[in-house]
Amino acid sequence: MKVATSHILVTGANRGIGKSLVEVALEFGAARVYATARDEESLHGLQSRFGDRLVPLVIDLTKPDSIVKAATRVEKLDLLINNAGVLSSAGLVSGRIEEIERDMQTNYFGTLAVTRAFLPAIERSRGSIANLLSVVALASMPGLGAYSASKAAALSLTQALRGELIKRGVHVHAVFPGPVDTDMAREITLPKTAPDVVARAIYAAIGRGEEDIFPDAMAQQVGGQWLKAPKEIERMFGAM
Ligand SMILES: NC(=O)c1ccc[n+]([C@@H]2O[C@H](COP(=O)([O-])OP(=O)(O)OC[C@H]3O[C@@H](n4cnc5c(N)ncnc54)[C@H](OP(=O)(O)O)[C@@H]3O)[C@@H](O)[C@H]2O)c1
Repeated sequence: MKVATSHILVTGANRGIGKSLVEVALEFGAARVYATARDEESLHGLQSRFGDRLVPLVIDLTKPDSIVKAATRVEKLDLLINNAGVLSSAGLVSGRIEEIERDMQTNYFGTLAVTRAFLPAIERSRGSIANLLSVVALASMPGLGAYSASKAAALSLTQALRGELIKRGVHVHAVFPGPVDTDMAREITLPKTAPDVVARAIYAAIGRGEEDIFPDAMAQQVGGQWLKAPKEIERMFGAM
């Protein structure tokens, strides 16, 4: 699929990787980008820069009514990017159960709900879906145990969708970033990639039809190792 002339929807578009995905899509010539956020006001800056090609929509992943309502506003859609997500920082042993549930509710059930709501539009255009996962979907990092589990669940969802939807002409991509320089990774001290670099790499890989996308240097290293020796990744992350 090509970004130019496409209709694209990005969740969590008001900041971080989502905002860069919107900016890069419009820069590449997308016909229309549906930018979703919990708070519509947080999209005003993007709206004033891009005018009619940017359509703001309200979606809260934990509020199914908001998702269903937004889907009624979208007739044509070539690419759905499930980007919105949370990292509660909860370890599974000592974290608050509410935070552990929040990660799963947002990153797994929210992604599922958005996908189901927009699937009719994606199917009509025989389009694509890209789910923002993480390298910790491949193996858990104990300090991020709740987040890792939610992203692993979202990876399983992505694989299930891929098998089911390819028969209906829809391509499904899994994106596994390493640390990216956004609010979410503020506490992470590892080297981080700029979100616009990650956004460009994601669109380039979608354009090449890659199913599993490793959009930065750390992700490529982990991805390569995971394909050869997944147990090594589990041991490495387990010791971090
Ligand atoms: N940054 C990294 O190092 C990294 C690495 C691997 C994967 N990822 C993944 O990449 C995606 C984007 O992350 P990011 O780094 O850009 O994070 P971010 O800067 O924290 O932005 C998160 C975005 O998700 C939105 N969001 C959170 N909860 C939501 C909800 N319940 N309903 C709707 N939107 C919600 C936020 O909206 P509000 O402004 O309303 O909170 C914000 O737009 C996430 O799925 C994340 O897990 C990030």
